[in-house]
Amino acid sequence: MRKKALWALGASILGLLLAACAPNASQSTLDPAGPTAQSEKNLFVPVFWIAVAVFVLVEGAILVIAIKYRQRKGRERMPKQTHGNTRLEIGWTIAPALVLAVVMVPTVSLIWQLAKAPGPGALNVTVQGRQWWWGFQYTDPDMKESYGSGEPITVADVLVVPAGRQVYLSLEAAGGLIGPGDPPDPAKADYVVIHSFWTPQLFGKQDVVPGRTNHITFAADQPGTYTGQCAEFCGLQHANMKFKVVALSQSDWDAWVQRERAPASTTVEGLAAEGRAIFLNPLSNDRGTCVNCHAIGGTEAASGAAPNLTHFYDPTHTCFAGCDFDTSDTEALKAWLRDPNAVKLGAKMPNYALSDHEIDALVAYLQSLT
Ligand code: CUA
Repeated sequence: MRKKALWALGASILGLLLAACAPNASQSTLDPAGPTAQSEKNLFVPVFWIAVAVFVLVEGAILVIAIKYRQRKGRERMPKQTHGNTRLEIGWTIAPALVLAVVMVPTVSLIWQLAKAPGPGALNVTVQGRQWWWGFQYTDPDMKESYGSGEPITVADVLVVPAGRQVYLSLEAAGGLIGPGDPPDPAKADYVVIHSFWTPQLFGKQDVVPGRTNHITFAADQPGTYTGQCAEFCGLQHANMKFKVVALSQSDWDAWVQRERAPASTTVEGLAAEGRAIFLNPLSNDRGTCVNCHAIGGTEAASGAAPNLTHFYDPTHTCFAGCDFDTSDTEALKAWLRDPNAVKLGAKMPNYALSDHEIDALVAYLQSLT
């Protein structure tokens, strides 16, 4: 009976361990795709093996001693009792201190190295942590939109960067209606909470803290898509506060910048044109207005409270609402518009009681925003 229980325990521990395996784990720190993540892995691996050596030594000694001095039949007497051993005690105090001192040297030097500001060629992006999605503003002078007042190019959910170039992120916690530069407003303060920005293949976690600006410098070696997520509990939908980093080749990057700088298409027709009118005007029966929170470049919609939708259907913008849904999933988009809270409990976008026809029209308009 006891043997059976031990086997069951062993099998469940093994099962638990194997559950961590995945054929294509896209969020693995052990599979770095850029210099920042690589240097973090270079530190992690030796520290890990030092820890393994310490573990084997200590646990091994415990096992050997427990087995060697266990109670046996015919050996009822107490073993020799020892009280105090100065040499041993000095030894096991100094040895761990030495191990920690050795680990500290590369750790502290990497912390300094990663905290250094990047060179002048870096791309500057302000990352806004919201409940529960990420906004990205490209703050360099050559990254302003070509319409309106030349605001920074702003996107949500997918951070697009050029492969091979350093990116300098400024992390800021923003609120539903509070921009990073706006004065604090206690009435809206519950929106502004701590998040943590993390793309395991590109860089380690960095907290996003209200009232201060933290930084991450990274680069993606190759074009590709890297997934990330919020790593600090920030409310009901913390687990669904995901994002993607898309690294593009130089030519794809140039094309993307050109698309983003341009206003949204205005040559929409039919159902999409109807959707455009619904989007830009107050909804009937005082139900509200999309433009109170969203911006669409080239229209009067200019609020930064919710995701910027100017190029919602750009090929790089593959997910929305905290990357909880695929942009190409029309049914998901309709469900979101019907009642955001029904598909993402706690979402800050209200239910506007949109009719099926209004939803179809809005979806058609959103899908025209390439
Ligand atoms: Cu944002 Cu967790």
